[in-house]
Amino acid sequence: MQIEAALLTHTDAPFRIVPLDLDDPGPNEVLVRLAASGVCASDAHTRSGHTPSPLPAVLGHEGAGVVVATGANVEHVQPGDHVALSWMPNCGHCRHCAAGRPVLCTAAAPALLAGTMLDGTVRLHHQGQDVNHYSFLSTFATHTVVPAASAVKIPEDVPLGLAALVGCAVLTGYGAAVNRARVQPGQSVLVFGAGGVGLSAVMGAALAGAAQVIVVDPVPDKCAVAVEFGATATLAPGDDLVDRVLALTDGDGADVAIDAVGAPGILDTAFRATVPGGTVVCVGVPGPDARPSLPGPDLVRSERVVTGCLYGSSRPSVDIPRILELYRRGALPIDRLVSKTYRLDQVNEAFEDMAAGRLSRGVIVHDEAIAW
Ligand SMILES: NC(=O)c1ccc[n+]([C@@H]2O[C@H](COP(=O)([O-])OP(=O)(O)OC[C@H]3O[C@@H](n4cnc5c(N)ncnc54)[C@H](O)[C@@H]3O)[C@@H](O)[C@H]2O)c1
Ligand SMILES: [Zn+2]
Ligand SMILES: [Zn+2]
Repeated sequence: MQIEAALLTHTDAPFRIVPLDLDDPGPNEVLVRLAASGVCASDAHTRSGHTPSPLPAVLGHEGAGVVVATGANVEHVQPGDHVALSWMPNCGHCRHCAAGRPVLCTAAAPALLAGTMLDGTVRLHHQGQDVNHYSFLSTFATHTVVPAASAVKIPEDVPLGLAALVGCAVLTGYGAAVNRARVQPGQSVLVFGAGGVGLSAVMGAALAGAAQVIVVDPVPDKCAVAVEFGATATLAPGDDLVDRVLALTDGDGADVAIDAVGAPGILDTAFRATVPGGTVVCVGVPGPDARPSLPGPDLVRSERVVTGCLYGSSRPSVDIPRILELYRRGALPIDRLVSKTYRLDQVNEAFEDMAAGRLSRGVIVHDEAIAW
């Protein structure tokens, strides 16, 4: 079928809206009509070359929509079902899936940025040339073909525009606090970055009962928004940041620090601003050459845990519906993440707004009638 999509042909180029040919879903694949797609900093990282993924490609990995057709062997969804899309499909039987850590799935994780579907081929074509997928989803388009395991069935009364955001920012940030750091009631949590991911970490920490949620962001408006999501204090970055965090935490440091930025220097600051025995969770994606260092003896003596966190260390097919249920109960104000909506042909503007620090989340609405 023919679709409309935002094509990125080379690094730092503007997106061009073009008609593309989309193949029928193959075995274990699903065709989805997209309602909406969030714009994540990871898309910007790939557009800039910070996180390489093959081009030309259709980016976008935070989407939700309605199933149009299913390929062979697909039983868990059928045409008409509402789905949120997971950018980490999983096989269900490798050592990591069996151990309950599907984001590490050996069948999917190594191919995340390969630009193909799980079988190594593509479904997208432009004027007879193959076009790469992005994170298995390519949601900056009216329709997409995704691995069956990426299509997570959700209730029909949840707006698809919000379900889209659960597909990356919310699951990632909430999961960093709840699944990875396992924030406990009464703890202090330090969050770097008040974008879609960081604000979701704030929501997760607040819901888990954190007594203090301290947010660090250089943009004053972002700090003001963080307070609406549950931040108890906000700080601008600076040389004395560690001292300011210690002053807010009785001289101890935070129990948990979550880096939702990935910029140079944050890991070192987070480490020093965390209490001995505390946990530092690295979510923001550094550049490919980043080699952050830590004070070695202090690492041993303080017993701090420093951990990466991919996709909120989640089990997407379980956690996405759970998070949407928390939204329905009013426990997670996901709707407040939506700062601005755009048409697909305004995708370049959405990226400019994100880079300028104007958005909690920008959402590209493909189909207004089914998005809200
Ligand atoms: N690990 C994962 O699975 C995963 C998933 C999604 C996104 N990410 C990554 O998470 C990061 C955040 O994504 P996002 O979409 O929320 O980004 P965003 O651009 O919406 O937000 C980033 C925020 O960081 C702030 N910031 C910039 N420099 C800072 C500094 N030195 N200290 C504190 N704050 C600073 C910005 O003002 C902005 O508010 C990106 O690196 C993205 O690639 C990781
Ligand atoms: Zn993302
Ligand atoms: Zn697996």
